[in-house]
Order: sequence, then C-alpha cells, then structure tokens
Amino acid sequence: MPPPGVQEIEHSNRLIEFLIGEIERQKGVIPFNEYMHHVLYRPGLGYYSAGKIKFGKAGDFVTAPEISDLFGRTLANQFESFYRQGCATNILEFGAGSGRLCAQLISHLPETKSYYIIELSADLRQRQQAYLQRQLEQEIVDRITWLDELPVDYNGIVFGNEVLDAMPVHVVTKLQQWHELGVGFDGERFHWRRYSDTGHAVTAMQAIEGELGSLPEGYCTELNLNYKPWLRALQASTQQVVVVMIDYGYEQAQYYHPERCDGTLICHYRHRMHADPLVYPGLQDITAFVDFDAFATAAVESGFEIGGFSTQGAFLLSNGILEEAEQPGSQDDTMTRLDIAQQIKTLTLPAEMGEKFKVMCLQKNLSLEFPALASVR
Ligand SMILES: C[S@@+](CC[C@H](N)C(=O)[O-])C[C@H]1O[C@@H](n2cnc3c(N)ncnc32)[C@H](O)[C@@H]1O
Repeated sequence: MPPPGVQEIEHSNRLIEFLIGEIERQKGVIPFNEYMHHVLYRPGLGYYSAGKIKFGKAGDFVTAPEISDLFGRTLANQFESFYRQGCATNILEFGAGSGRLCAQLISHLPETKSYYIIELSADLRQRQQAYLQRQLEQEIVDRITWLDELPVDYNGIVFGNEVLDAMPVHVVTKLQQWHELGVGFDGERFHWRRYSDTGHAVTAMQAIEGELGSLPEGYCTELNLNYKPWLRALQASTQQVVVVMIDYGYEQAQYYHPERCDGTLICHYRHRMHADPLVYPGLQDITAFVDFDAFATAAVESGFEIGGFSTQGAFLLSNGILEEAEQPGSQDDTMTRLDIAQQIKTLTLPAEMGEKFKVMCLQKNLSLEFPALASVR
C-alpha cells in the first residue's frame, strides 16, 4: 500500500489520540460500530468529515456517478416515471458525495421543485456546494437545500447511492458461541478484542443463524443495526414517498453463506482494497455490504411497502442507459464512443458493478409501478 504523507500521518495521529482516550474511558475496549463511526464521521477528524479528497482518480475509490454521467441520466428516467405516476416533484438525497449525482439529476429533471441533501460530513457539504455552484445555473442552485435533519411531512423521492454501506456496523464472531468484537489498543496499535457476549448484535446474529442454519466455528461477520432506526425516522418524517437505495449487497442467505467466513468489511485507500479496518484511522474508507433482506424486513416493519428489487445492471438497462448513450452529442468522436462503451460495461456487466450492486425501491402512501425492477423478484 502507498505510505501516507506527513500531513496525513499528523491527521491520523490526532484521531488515534482521540480513539485511545475513548478506549481508556471505556475500560480498554470500544464496540467496532463506535470505532467505525469515529474513524469515518468524527467531526474534523473522520475520513468523511476531514478535508481529504475521497472520490475519483485523486481519491480512494470511484462510485457510479463518478464513472459516468449516464448513471444520473438513466436514474433521472426512473425518477421521471415516478413523477408521471403522481409522485411529488421533490428529491431528498442522502450522502451526496462530490455532488455530481445531484448535478446529473437536477439538470435532467427540470420539473424538480426542491432538491434536498442530507450530508453527515460538513467538509463534503462544502465541497458539494462549491461544485454545484460551479456546474449549475443560479436558478437551479437556488432549488437545492442542505438540511441538518429530516424534513417534516416530506413528499417526493428519497434516495441514496452507496450510503447504506457507509453506515457503521457491529462485528460478531463465533467461538463456540457468538461474541461481539470491539477495538482495544495495546500501546502500539489497535487490535480486535472481545466486547460483549450479549447485546443486540449477538441476539440478531443468533436469530439469523437460527433461520439460515449453523455457521462454522471461527466465522466472523458483521451486522448493520442502523436500518430500522433510519427507516423509522424516515417513516415519521414523510407522507407520500418512494425510496430508492442503490448499493452493493446480498440477500441474507448469500451474505451469511457458510463460506463467507470473514464477512464483507472492505477498506479503500488510494484505489487499493484490503480488509483491515484497524489501520490508517481516518485516512481510509471502511464499508460493509448491505443485507438487503434485513433492509427489506426493517422497511416493512417501519410501514413501507417493497416496490421492487433488481440488480443495478438490469435496472439501468430497463431505464434506457443504452438509449441515453445514443442521444445526439453524446458520442461525437471515436474516443468518446469507446469511453462511453467502457462506462456502460463498468456500470452494467455482471462481472463489474452490474450484479454486485442492487437497487431496492420502497413506497409509502403511493401506488407506483416499478417495471424496471420487476425482473428479479
Ligand atoms: C460512499 S459515499 C457515496 C457518495 C455518493 N452518494 C456517490 O455515490 O458518490 C457515502 C456518503 O454517505 C454519507 N453518509 C453516510 N451515512 C449517512 C447518513 N446516515 N446520512 C447522510 N449521509 C450519510 C457520507 O458522508 C458520504 O457522503
């Protein structure tokens, strides 16, 4: 892995000091979800909250809207269909990243009255504001509002691309019985420590194992216990909405497959992927795949109806990504044509993002049709 620069090391050291203090305060161990929350979102120190460039070639990883504006244009076709079917013409985006997807969507959906962004990171919020100011006409920028909390009685589209995978997870391991793991400090580095033999994560994992069948000794995996509180809060602050969440993930039987014995936690540092979240605190992204069955169950329990579920590849093809690429001006020269062909492959092919990424739609107090999502289940 490329070594961090002097400034990066200084930054990470400040976060390390804070984490050591937290670990001491909590008698030697903090739960992993708390560690992940701090290293990603601690104001001024966490990976997403500090000034590092995260997205694109100069950053650590690339998301779909950074790969191609065809992603946003095709998603806009789906949103257009929601508008035509009676959904209010507002968009609420969670975790807007660089702001690129917002620009892509609002430019292709001129009928959008208000575009709201909820962004945990103050640094990203500033970057989004600067980017959108540069990219869009003032009349369009004036329709974008950053919110500090959920709106009241919101109507319209709610969506997030790669937001669920960025939520802090609990880590559990099976050593005769299930234990939740936490993070300690041995004087030199952070290390895994047993945190709890009871608690929500252990109970939730026992229930999953009870449902799916016994998992092998030594199995280590993670659980995202944020879906339910997040969806409940969304339910309480909305009236008529369609929710579109796009992310990499599995259905539960695949997620907790006996052979996936090391879980799905992945770290990104300067376009290198590895599985050790305890190194480079604050300098690397940490994510976990989404358990779409758990998300769907939490949605139904929170009062949403499942509108549909599909792979990203099928979703983009059904919403006309190929036709979008044929639009006049899209492919003026041979190099552009080759670039666009490559972008479409990356977004849709099963071996690239096409099958790993899924799209789940929920709705509340609407009766929308989801033909682009009917294909999987
Ligand atoms: C992997 S990035 C994806 C960014 C962007 N959506 C994209 O596709 O390029 C995750 C984003 O989600 C944000 N985030 C994570 N949890 C969030 C939450 N609970 N509410 C709002 N934003 C959140 C992060 O700050 C970051 O902007």
